[in-house]
Amino acid sequence: MRFDAKFVTSAFTPAGYPRWDRAEVALAGRSNVGKSSMLNALAESRNLARTSRTPGRTRALNFFSVSNDLAIVDLPGYGFAKMARTDAARIASMMNDYLGQSERLAGLVLLIDSRRGPEREELDLATLAASRSIALVAVATKCDKLRRSERAAALARFKPLGVEPILCSALDGEGLDHLRRRIIGCARAARRAAALGDGDDGAMDLRPR
Ligand code: GTP
Ligand code: MG
Repeated sequence: MRFDAKFVTSAFTPAGYPRWDRAEVALAGRSNVGKSSMLNALAESRNLARTSRTPGRTRALNFFSVSNDLAIVDLPGYGFAKMARTDAARIASMMNDYLGQSERLAGLVLLIDSRRGPEREELDLATLAASRSIALVAVATKCDKLRRSERAAALARFKPLGVEPILCSALDGEGLDHLRRRIIGCARAARRAAALGDGDDGAMDLRPR
């Protein structure tokens, strides 16, 4: 399974978000955690999203279509210590706008370095997702860097998040099919919920007659 992802547009403000009917699944995480590399790996493409050794590569929201009903949004990374204060504030407000308002957001894939585990920002993002009833998928990135003996401890570090992470590596492909299935699952669930909201849910009508 491969995501046939195509770059569509970059946006800095809500006015720039694409107007389409696709369910969007966003990739969020600390700068340099491997979001863009993950998107490339999901698409089996080398340079769909630009990656870099230097944190702070992605500075806008980048929208990629995956199918007629699914899109992936590569978010700029937060928490990069060397970033200018004004840049960091701009990125925080771009993320808050998108995560707080996007009507199409069906899932939040939270990428966290498997050697680091969740910190305050990740716990805050998980809370935000829960408050908007957005499905949360946790990914422990760069798991190729873990020794076999370190994997259990890495998973234990994720406990405070309350969701079990998928151990993934963009380098050797571990976990990618699992993640693709979860992303598709988010989009399906959102579509089903939207259908329920339209009243077209096929549920039994239990009102007295
Ligand atoms: P920003 O755009 O700055 O937020 O960063 P990002 O989260 O998009 O990270 P990016 O994909 O650019 O990767 C950052 C660095 O981590 C690069 O040097 C990648 O080669 C490396 N990297 C990403 N994924 C993996 C992985 O699965 N394993 C290993 N070993 N390195 C990885
Ligand atoms: Mg990036």
